[in-house]
Amino acid sequence: MIAKNKTIGVIGAGAMGSGIAQVAAQSGHAVLLFDEADGTVAKALENIKTSLEKLVSRGKFTPEQAARTLENLTSAESLQDFSCCGLVIEAVVEKLDVKQSLLKKIEDITDGDCIFASNTSSLSITALAAKAKRPHNVAGLHFFNPAPVMKLVEVISGLATDANVVATLMVTATAWGKKPVRAKSTPGFIVNRVARPFYGESLRLLEEGASNAATIDAVMRESGGFRMGPFELMDLIGLDVNYAVTCSIYDACYQDPRYKPSFMQQEMVNGNFLGRKTGKGFYHYGDRAGKPLIQTAALSSSIVPAMEYEQFDCSSPVIQLDDTVIAMSDGRTATQRANEEGIANLVLVDLTGDFQTATRIAVCKADQTRQQHLDKAIAWLQSQNKQVSVIDDVAGMILLRTVCMLANEAADVVNQGVCSAADCDTAMFFGVNHPRGPLQWADDIGLEYVIKVLQNLSHHYGDGRYRISPLLKRKFFAGETFH
Ligand code: NAI
Repeated sequence: MIAKNKTIGVIGAGAMGSGIAQVAAQSGHAVLLFDEADGTVAKALENIKTSLEKLVSRGKFTPEQAARTLENLTSAESLQDFSCCGLVIEAVVEKLDVKQSLLKKIEDITDGDCIFASNTSSLSITALAAKAKRPHNVAGLHFFNPAPVMKLVEVISGLATDANVVATLMVTATAWGKKPVRAKSTPGFIVNRVARPFYGESLRLLEEGASNAATIDAVMRESGGFRMGPFELMDLIGLDVNYAVTCSIYDACYQDPRYKPSFMQQEMVNGNFLGRKTGKGFYHYGDRAGKPLIQTAALSSSIVPAMEYEQFDCSSPVIQLDDTVIAMSDGRTATQRANEEGIANLVLVDLTGDFQTATRIAVCKADQTRQQHLDKAIAWLQSQNKQVSVIDDVAGMILLRTVCMLANEAADVVNQGVCSAADCDTAMFFGVNHPRGPLQWADDIGLEYVIKVLQNLSHHYGDGRYRISPLLKRKFFAGETFH
């Protein structure tokens, strides 16, 4: 671990650098903060002071802790001041040549033990260290925004990174109150890569007219337990930023169809529909803000048998209500499944995180199914205290296909040795607040079911996007689970 008496240097005092400096100072290190733009460090220190005052007023910090944190922070006049640092973290603009030139300067100034860590979210740590004098001392230390609040830190090793450097950063991040995970330097590391289907599937669903953005968001929140739906989250992140991350991973992976960007998102970026920051994205903000139109079925007047269901999930996928068949989606459209299985009155329901506690559920009917059967299914779900969102008949519905694709991506990341299954789930839980790690979710659904859903999606779309991770198949054939 980096000893408490070692100074930490932070380069770049923007959104991330100032947060990282605060984290290190709160943990008792002397911190030097440097930025090339005049006045930026002073502004950052002022912002840190304000945020510490808020923590004191909320009782999270004592006034002494806040004062000590501020005392630990010093504005550096130049990089020459960094000669005493045991760890230098850079959080400057996302450009490889800029970061490489800073690394060179730091190597010339500091002694041989100093670790250089980059907060990059997309650049290769191997490439960053390629021209370094001491590439074994170069690693990634990827904080999430806002750094003082978000627990996750991805500790990234490039090809030349020394295992002891990774171990030191892991222990140091833990001492700073963070949840560190190890990852190999690969496009998107863990979180930015595994999270792609969260946006990609919802964009495809919207493009195909499955439902509107507000309804898809509501299903993801109220059925799946996600804190925010994908569209409200894209509006918050900024569509331009989100689109750029997708394009960068798509290109870095040689146009793998898994990460194919969305035309609709590109169109919105081109039109300045960037989300909250421009007042318009998937929703409107400011003067034009309106109530999002979540599609919720009116109370159905159909009479249904009083039938309580403890469980309605992948282990009990079909129930019969008189002549209406209600089944959990298996990745086929209702229309295809009704045809293949000769079911006259089929209604499909989406996955729920937990059927008992979910307050909303998405349903769809086969084209062959008459409206009265859909009404009956709605009535039954309403009798189970669910709000019902009727969506168009799309393969895999909303939550089911998103969760299966998150699990598939997570399995691939583990299969390619980027990280362990445990670290992958920790990363998604602490880095983007997913309600469950994707591999835990796959275990809970059952790997056989996840594979079936992906197979059906793959047949349905016929592109490589839904191809199944070799590790998912291997675990299933071995009768194993991820955890
Ligand atoms: P920012 O634009 O808020 O701050 C960057 C700061 O670096 C600016 O104050 C700029 O003056 C300074 N700077 C640029 N070149 C410099 C140089 N050569 N020497 C000294 N200072 C220099 O950017 P932000 O958002 O803080 O991002 C910084 C890094 O963190 C980037 O690599 C980004 O990819 C990464 N990151 C960003 C996250 C975010 O949500 N904003 C999340 C995780 C990582």
